[in-house]
Formats: sequence, structure tokens, C-alpha cells
Amino acid sequence: MADILKIAKKKGTPVFILDHKKIRENYREFKEALPRVQAYYAVKANSNPEIVRTLYKMGASFDVASFPEFMIVHENIKNLSKKNRQDFIWDKIIYANTIKQEETLRKLDQYKPLVTYDNIDELKKIKKHCPHAGLVLRIRVPNTGSMVELSSKFGAHPGEAVDLILEAFKIGLIVEGISFHVGSQCNNFENYMQAIQLASSILKEAESRGHKINILDIGGGFPVKYNNKVKSFKTLARKLNTEIDRLFPKTMEILAEPGRFMVANAATLVTKIIGKAVRDGKTCYYLDDGVYHTFSGIVFDHCVYPLKAFKDGEKKVCSVFGPTCDAFDTISVAEELPDLEIGDYLYAENIGAYSIASSTYFNGFPPAKVVHINK
Ligand SMILES: Cc1ncc(COP(=O)(O)O)c(C=O)c1O
Repeated sequence: MADILKIAKKKGTPVFILDHKKIRENYREFKEALPRVQAYYAVKANSNPEIVRTLYKMGASFDVASFPEFMIVHENIKNLSKKNRQDFIWDKIIYANTIKQEETLRKLDQYKPLVTYDNIDELKKIKKHCPHAGLVLRIRVPNTGSMVELSSKFGAHPGEAVDLILEAFKIGLIVEGISFHVGSQCNNFENYMQAIQLASSILKEAESRGHKINILDIGGGFPVKYNNKVKSFKTLARKLNTEIDRLFPKTMEILAEPGRFMVANAATLVTKIIGKAVRDGKTCYYLDDGVYHTFSGIVFDHCVYPLKAFKDGEKKVCSVFGPTCDAFDTISVAEELPDLEIGDYLYAENIGAYSIASSTYFNGFPPAKVVHINK
């Protein structure tokens, strides 16, 4: 911890310290546990281009959700690949947002991308504006018990999946794969088991109708050990390997879109106390970072980031606020910290995913500066 304090003093705060050694370890752990699965890192979790480069060098591919994300990946890896362009795009990038602006589709078409869809209107849009795309049908699967649920917004009902595949072929498009997402930070492994079973049934039905589909994309959701209640990733991986081998032929290409798993534990934020007040007998600390910035995951990701001090001392319950003028900018009303002063530093670990990615400039405060270590 002495090292991060040194960085904070040298670079100023708030500072988001990104450890690339951890990212490489996470990638290795993922690949060793799931050897059949190609990891398409979900750039939305943290779109820093240095992360893209580090993961690309490890052999990762990428899941993008917008044209700017597509370009972050494309620009950072295009000169490093020796493969021909078409293989390069599908091997390396999936555009996994089922809803795309028409303009985005027009811009994507020249790359002959792999894109997801989950409804008939999107299919028509793709046919009109991006006819050279390969398609992946996203189905709706149980998200029960996941920290962030996604099934109310995305995914075709399994009952309409085969029709959506047939319709795509009918209008001259090609369905290459099927995908799902069990919800982010999934601690209920039954979600994956049910989703894989559903995907298998749909693929069998599509094959019996003359359309063999060769890609299964098992999405994201792989849990990060934020605390002891989180179940073991290794246990999940063993279950997934067994089910995948049982239900799919060796020729089936298996993809996943891990976001949080690759980056959550790779970043630590150091922030400084800029104000202190006692209100109704309770100490309130005001930091130079808050929920409009790196702590945005408290709101959007339903995540908590326990704060730690660099000082020892008896801990007392206190409130911690961000720097903006909005009372919503509340990090915690029940933090336990020792007695601290203006100018003291605090840090939050495991803050690499869905944090700085959704930081704003609210009140004119810029996002935390990023410092890369062990690159
Ligand atoms: C389509 C898609 N893929 C992958 C991810 C990454 O999920 P996670 O960070 O849980 O691995 C998300 C997250 O929202 C997503 O929407």
C-alpha cells in the first residue's frame, strides 16, 4: 500500500491505478479454467486502450457495444494482426449490442462485422444498412441472483428464437451463432446451466430445419471475488466445461464476453479528503472523487467499494461524500473509518470495472487520472 500512496502523492488525486500484471493473471486464469472458450473482453467494463493492448497481446478478442468502442479495439490492434481481414474481424471483435443506430450499422458494414440481434426490426435494419454482417442471435435466459440483471432489456424469447433464425436466412442474411448473458456478477451458476441447455435445444431445432450454427457465445457474468459470499469461478468453469462437452460437438466454437472478470481487481483508486464536518454528531468526510466519477459503480453497477485509510486508529461510523454540489453524490452513510483529517488519503480496491468507465464531468470535475503499473 506504500506504493500506491507514493503514486498518489506524486501524481495527485483522485488517481486510478491500473495494474496490468493483474489483468494478465486474470486472463490466464480464465483461459486455464475454460480452455475451449475464446475470451472476448467486454470493453464496456473499462475501455482504456492500454487494457485492450495488454489483453490483445495475451491472445484475447473483444466485445464492443458501440462504434467508438469498435474503433478503440480496431485502431489498437489492426497493425498487430497478420491474419486476413475477415478472419481478423470475427476472431477479434463481436459487436454485442443488440440495438444499433442505423448510422452505426452503415459505418460497420465495410468491416463485415459479427453483430448480435434479438428482434425482427433489428434484423430488417441490419439487412438494409449492414448486409455484410454475420449474425449472432441473443436469447433471453434466467438472470436470477445476478448483481446486474439484463434480461428485461435484451434477448429474444427462446420460443421465438428458431423463427428469428429462419427469418434471417430467408432475407439473405447468415446466422453464425447464438448468444446469451446470465446477468453481471452471476453468483447463481444454475443460470449458466439453464442458458446452455436452452441454446443447445434451439441449435438442434435450427439444424433440423437445415441451418447448422457453429458459434456459441456464453456471454459475461463471471463472478469476481469481491467478498467471501461470491462462489468460486473454478467451480463454475468445471460445470461449464462439463456441459459444453456434453451438449456440443468439438467443432463448435465457444466464445465468452467477460468484462468485470478481467479488470475489476486490477484497479485501486486513491482519493483525498478535501473537507470534514460534523453533522448531527456524525463525522462527514468529503472526497475529491464521488458517485458522478469513479464511484459511479455504486449507482450503475450496484457495487460497493469499502474505503480504507492509510492510518490506524479506532474506527467510527461516518458518512462519505463526493465533491459535487449534489446530495446524491453520497458514497456511504455507514463507512467505518479511523479519525481522519483534511489532506489524508483513502483508497478503494477492486474498482476496475464499471467505475471510471461511467465517470462524468459533472460540476466540471474531470474523471480521475489513470496511472498504469506493471505494463
Ligand atoms: C452483451 C454483454 N456482454 C458482456 C458483458 C460483460 O459482462 P460482465 O462484466 O458481467 O462479464 C455485458 C455487461 O453488461 C454485456 O451487456
